[in-house]
Amino acid sequence: TNARLIAPSILSADFGNLQRDIEMINNSEADWIHVDVMDGVFVPNISFGFPVTEVAFKHATKPLDVHLMIVEPDKYLKRFKDAGAASITVHVEACPHLNRTVQAIKELGCKAGVALNPHTPVAMIEDIIKYVDLILIMSVNPGFGGQHFIDNTYKKIADLKKLADLYNPNVYIEVDGGVDATNINKLMAAGANVFVAGSSVFGAPSASDMISTLKHT
Ligand code: DX5
Ligand code: ZN
Repeated sequence: TNARLIAPSILSADFGNLQRDIEMINNSEADWIHVDVMDGVFVPNISFGFPVTEVAFKHATKPLDVHLMIVEPDKYLKRFKDAGAASITVHVEACPHLNRTVQAIKELGCKAGVALNPHTPVAMIEDIIKYVDLILIMSVNPGFGGQHFIDNTYKKIADLKKLADLYNPNVYIEVDGGVDATNINKLMAAGANVFVAGSSVFGAPSASDMISTLKHT
């Protein structure tokens, strides 16, 4: 039940009351604040970019975990660092020169993360895992909150855990999409230790209580 980090996703927050929702997270047992940036090109949806990230940072007392679901992320790494990102995660599918992109993130002083879509095998990160701080496993197809959890994720996390034990035992293994109180323990048993949760938190009667439930269940 310990050594698990909870990262509520503000994609499911009320953007008319973003300060209130960030303060709720500040006062909860959450560890990180997950920030989902979508460009309408890499994924079939547009979420938000710099202004919303800056507002989140202005009010947040916890690290911003920025997940870039965009093409050509190299162009915008510095802007997201300046907007307040503590960690920046890019998709392996969007980065032909992934090693260069990861180096650029680290040179900015951010934690570097690499994300995998549901159909992308864990083998794709074998030659980058030793250079990164976190690997994010998508457990839904990226683009929308509130989707159904994909069952193959348990097997992928177990595959990733084996690579991590070989090449980078301290890497964070983050799971993103459809995480809730019914699957978090099984995901942790498979090897994950950072849990993104959007709709399960913000759709709960008390978001703050749900964060505690996810932290301790
Ligand atoms: C999906 C995003 C997720 C999303 C998760 O494309 O990357 O972070 O906010 O939302 P839920 O928890 O509702 O699946
Ligand atoms: Zn995300």
